Amino acid sequence: MRVLVVGAGGREHALCWALKRDTPDATLFAASGNPGTAQLGTNLTIQVGEVEDVVEAVRQHRIDLTIVGPEAPLAAGLADALRAQGHPVFGPNRAAARIESSKAFAKELMRRAKIPTASSRTFTTLEPALAFIGRHAEPLVVKASGLAAGKGVVVCAHRNEAARAARAMLAEGAFADAGREIVIEDFLKGEELSVLALTDGERLLLLPAARDHKRLGEGDTGPNTGGMGAYCPVATATPGLLERIRREVLEPAIAALAEQRTPFQGVLYAGLMLATDGTLSVLEFNCRFGDPETQALLPALPGMTRHLADIAAGSWTPVERTLVATRAAVATVLAAPGYPAKPEVGAAIVIPRDLEAGTLVFHAGTARDPDGTLRVQGGRVLTVTGLGDTVHEAAKRSSDACELIAFPGKTYRRDIAWREIREERAGAARG
Ligand code: AMP
Ligand code: GLY
Repeated sequence: MRVLVVGAGGREHALCWALKRDTPDATLFAASGNPGTAQLGTNLTIQVGEVEDVVEAVRQHRIDLTIVGPEAPLAAGLADALRAQGHPVFGPNRAAARIESSKAFAKELMRRAKIPTASSRTFTTLEPALAFIGRHAEPLVVKASGLAAGKGVVVCAHRNEAARAARAMLAEGAFADAGREIVIEDFLKGEELSVLALTDGERLLLLPAARDHKRLGEGDTGPNTGGMGAYCPVATATPGLLERIRREVLEPAIAALAEQRTPFQGVLYAGLMLATDGTLSVLEFNCRFGDPETQALLPALPGMTRHLADIAAGSWTPVERTLVATRAAVATVLAAPGYPAKPEVGAAIVIPRDLEAGTLVFHAGTARDPDGTLRVQGGRVLTVTGLGDTVHEAAKRSSDACELIAFPGKTYRRDIAWREIREERAGAARG
């Protein structure tokens, strides 16, 4: 089997690694890939935004399966173009990808399908948006409707902050086209949870719940980032809760998309808020695997990528309803100094060869010089995943390896999964 993974981050390196683990004789290609994917297959230097170039590469390299990592090529219609030419692809068509690429669309879909989510209104002009903000309770949340690389959400303590955000998006071109439509919604309190499900547009296979740490600083403080680390499984996500998420969120979303003749095939990611009173709300949907959730999930789920090939081929017959993690996994992101505002690139990276067993290093923002030197090339540089029998053990393995990897200004959180570890300890103390 010849497989192309589209994308260039830590998620795509993890996908390539898991494909090799599950199907050792697969021949791998990545577009455009990174030094990590280059160790497992061939990197193709094509612009993944150029749909026609990717389709041409799939033809030329006789690719049997294309797996699309990021949202942008899906929103640009890459899966549509491949399907139109009869090429098996894992990932939704453009119309179904709107569940991520338009928050206004996602909100409307949730309203129709009665999926629990924060109450909201959508605006395309400033005056009505400001009037609505003027009457809104504090805190409140302003979101650019379109794709904004994870930066389009502004959680506002006060109305004047919300007014500034709305003005920046609707009147001053912040986020360009992505900010021409905005969603203003109630602020929700609770614990966040990421639940991903593989689907052929009809059936669903849930992955274990994961949790992402979006803030830069330890203790979940500081600016929002693309994600500083993630772990799985999450103990509060009991089988009962996952079943509820299936029934109340994932099944209605998939059914609503199928009903409007835009069936969703790929992985549907629900970002959820779980309140202390047990109320469940959707914060967002993504039409793809999470980054860095994938770097924790895939190592804990042997055999998982075989489902992707079957879904893409239209020959999927899942026997289980959920996949269960065989081990705990904690993924810590090593970021460049200055991330997320202004990452400094160029420094040389040294990764020791003899990291402890049960440790995986996935490349994201790295580049390799012709002489083999590895360098920092982007904000999120590496994701270091530790596996263990408990989340605590996995977290320690991940942190220990992060300590040993060296580059100037290396920035990372030593507390990924802190809440889970506290609960594990309390559980052990209770016996
Ligand atoms: P999103 O890209 O929509 O997931 O938003 C990014 C982050 O903003 C989420 O992971 C939450 O931490 C936060 N967020 C989004 N919507 C809300 C909300 N309604 N209430 C509180 N926090 C939110
Ligand atoms: N880790 C959050 C995301 O992938 O959107």
